[in-house]
Amino acid sequence: MFTKNMILLQLAESLFALVVLASTLVHVTSAQLHPTSLAEYVRLPSLREQAAIQDGWRDERLSRIPGLLNKYRIQAWLMSQREYAEDTLWWSVKGATEYAPHRRTVLLFHTNTSSLAGQPNPLRWVDNTGAVWPELRNILTSYNPRRIALNTDRDVAFGGGLHVGEYEALAEELGEDWMERTVNEPMLGIEHVATRVPGQLQYYRDLQETTWALIEEAFSERVITPGVTTTEDVEWWYREKMLLLNVTTWNHPRVSVITPESFPGWSGTQDVIREGDLLHVDFGITAMGLNTDVQHMAYVLRTSEGETDAPVGLKEGVRRANRMQDIVLERMRAGKTGNDVLKECLDQMKVEGIEGQIYSHPIGDWGHSAGAVIGFTNLPEYVPVLGELPILPNTYYSIELYAYSFVPERNETLRFRLEENAYWDELDERWKFVYGRQERLHLINATAAHPTQPALAFVVQP
Ligand SMILES: *[C@@H]1O[C@H](CO)[C@@H](O)[C@H](O)[C@H]1NC(C)=O
Ligand SMILES: *[C@@H]1O[C@H](CO)[C@@H](O)[C@H](O)[C@H]1NC(C)=O
Ligand SMILES: *[C@@H]1O[C@H](CO)[C@@H](O)[C@H](O)[C@H]1NC(C)=O
Ligand SMILES: *[C@@H]1O[C@H](CO)[C@@H](O)[C@H](O)[C@H]1NC(C)=O
Repeated sequence: MFTKNMILLQLAESLFALVVLASTLVHVTSAQLHPTSLAEYVRLPSLREQAAIQDGWRDERLSRIPGLLNKYRIQAWLMSQREYAEDTLWWSVKGATEYAPHRRTVLLFHTNTSSLAGQPNPLRWVDNTGAVWPELRNILTSYNPRRIALNTDRDVAFGGGLHVGEYEALAEELGEDWMERTVNEPMLGIEHVATRVPGQLQYYRDLQETTWALIEEAFSERVITPGVTTTEDVEWWYREKMLLLNVTTWNHPRVSVITPESFPGWSGTQDVIREGDLLHVDFGITAMGLNTDVQHMAYVLRTSEGETDAPVGLKEGVRRANRMQDIVLERMRAGKTGNDVLKECLDQMKVEGIEGQIYSHPIGDWGHSAGAVIGFTNLPEYVPVLGELPILPNTYYSIELYAYSFVPERNETLRFRLEENAYWDELDERWKFVYGRQERLHLINATAAHPTQPALAFVVQP
């Protein structure tokens, strides 16, 4: 018999979760809760203003590269690329009005010392005649760097962006004497890409608010008509609406009806959304060189049966996932590896009787950005290479995970999948959510639907 025992068990677990929640609330989550009012679509500055702001961030980041080179005892960092075959790092060093690099673009970062003191940093050549090579050789001869970093890493994208044809060209043009001084140091690229700069957070918060506003509208009766709207309709609604908001994305939105089977997914499910469904979205937006990555859940009220709130068992699932978020944020500390943090979190979950999985990652310049990952969907306990990297101070992280929770009302164990973006607050010395975190299910209340408003106003019908 499931009913009595399982409900008692569930009650006991809920109480335990509440006690745990109360004990951690004080030092973890103040001012990070589900915002009390609905999010609004934030209007970004004009493109011209955005470019000026982004170039300010870029200049600040470039000015830190000499320090980074010194940290890793490297005197020069050489990037060579051709139009459309650019180094991954290009996108984190270019100006706001630049797109792909022109012709062959060679960048030489230096430590601002000896013969290159006072010269532009990086030195830059844009060439299609071969004139770059003798000039580069002359510069190297006068500067005489002992260790020259090339982005040749085999595992880390941010340290491995040198295309093989460029490597061959460099090897031939620089010759053995210089090539012997080249080294692979992926931490240069990782640290550069992961670096946050002052003034960025307020815009990142705006992007998060817009992300939330999109979810709140998508997961409402304004977009979803139970029995009619499909999960794919909602995905394309997001895409069309983003155009109107002047933002793009780095990942097609994935909308699913949650069932015990619906995971993992590189795509959403293909379902007509019905009353009583538990919905999930995984998506993010891109603007001003920043990316968001958020997952929320929603419940379609059985309004035809007079239901006015989500079943308790579903709310409990969200609470468990929230508790896991706290566990991760409490244990993430600069210097620990991603795998250290993962193990500590899994141990703590065991202590608290929570089952689930963690697969959190850095975010910022990229949706999946540079730095230590904390688990992967297919590597739940240990991640080679990317999990062995250190957590960096002063970065953004996407806290992505699920908690299993038994839902007595459905006699099913479901994955409660949440994701929110966090930043390191230097003053308070702890991680905080950039905008907030989901603690209440979004509710789709079909009785509140406005009869004159077409549900999919933004979808271009074929
Ligand atoms: C998007 O850009 C257009 C053109 O500048 C502007 O009219 C509109 O208000 C913008 N929308 C938002 C939500 O920022
Ligand atoms: C390096 O030199 C350039 C050009 O003089 C200057 O703009 C930059 O701030 C210097 N960087 C450091 C870290 O000293
Ligand atoms: C609940 O699910 C379990 C396993 O799927 C099944 O054995 C059991 O009969 C179900 N209980 C009820 C009340 O439907
Ligand atoms: C659903 O919408 C109806 C009509 O606007 C409203 O009376 C009711 O309170 C709403 N229910 C919930 C749970 O929001």
